Amino acid sequence: MKDKKFTVSHLKQFKEKKEKITMLTAYDYSTAKMMDEAGVDTILVGDSLGMVVLGYEDTLQVTMADMLHHTKAVKRGVKNAFVIGDMPFLSYHISVEEAVRNAGRFVKEAGANAVKLEGGQEVLPQIEGILAAKIPVVGHLGLTPQSVNVFGGFKVQGKDTAQAKQLIEDALALEAAGVCAIVLECVPAKLAKLISEKLEIPTIGIGAGVDCDGQVLVINDIVGAYDELSPKFVKTYGHVGIEMKKAINTYIEEVRTEQFPEEKHSFKIDEALLDKLY
Ligand code: KIV
Repeated sequence: MKDKKFTVSHLKQFKEKKEKITMLTAYDYSTAKMMDEAGVDTILVGDSLGMVVLGYEDTLQVTMADMLHHTKAVKRGVKNAFVIGDMPFLSYHISVEEAVRNAGRFVKEAGANAVKLEGGQEVLPQIEGILAAKIPVVGHLGLTPQSVNVFGGFKVQGKDTAQAKQLIEDALALEAAGVCAIVLECVPAKLAKLISEKLEIPTIGIGAGVDCDGQVLVINDIVGAYDELSPKFVKTYGHVGIEMKKAINTYIEEVRTEQFPEEKHSFKIDEALLDKLY
């Protein structure tokens, strides 16, 4: 949606109008600004920043301080997009009070429009607490990366009957609690379609097929700037990593061979003044 502020009420409106919701992750000012200018509807400051920005193996080490730092930067680059702060591991697990306090920090200190947290019925008390503080919540079901140690890896979820039923029940429970959207990650496409049809709120898919109400991908993946994991669901739309390496190599070469800086990159001084310095 270009040149119009995307708010929480647009989420449901888009679903009603069968208009797809676009979401991308961002972690810094310049990228967020480009996305906002391109007209992306929603920006998720994902805890995936732990992997693609901070270089951790998973998202578990990401802290509230990391998340707030990056959410503030993103928010400064955004005029219209709906900005969602991703609650990091252990920022909402210990108690409802702590969950509300941390969710509040995303809004109060970083200017986020909503928070996202992972999990189903087991996190309902936290979701209800945060919603009671008037902070919109986005749910996240399926492959929830903060549970990587329980899943035993980044695996597709909902493939057997019990898991599939659990996912449907969780989605319905989250909707009943009042979340404004649900991210479905690595869920079979037909199951994601069924869940999307059962809900009035939108589903945002990542590895969950075309029938979700919107799609989200990690920015570093779509521009080819992160090559350590290449999940099946990622589509690469650019090759920024290759371009950056080319530019870096050329810079190194030009510095070493004194091709850079050229005269046009340098500043002049009055020659008479210079003479007096010798
Ligand atoms: O952290 C993240 O980037 C996410 C999305 C990929 C859904 O949770």
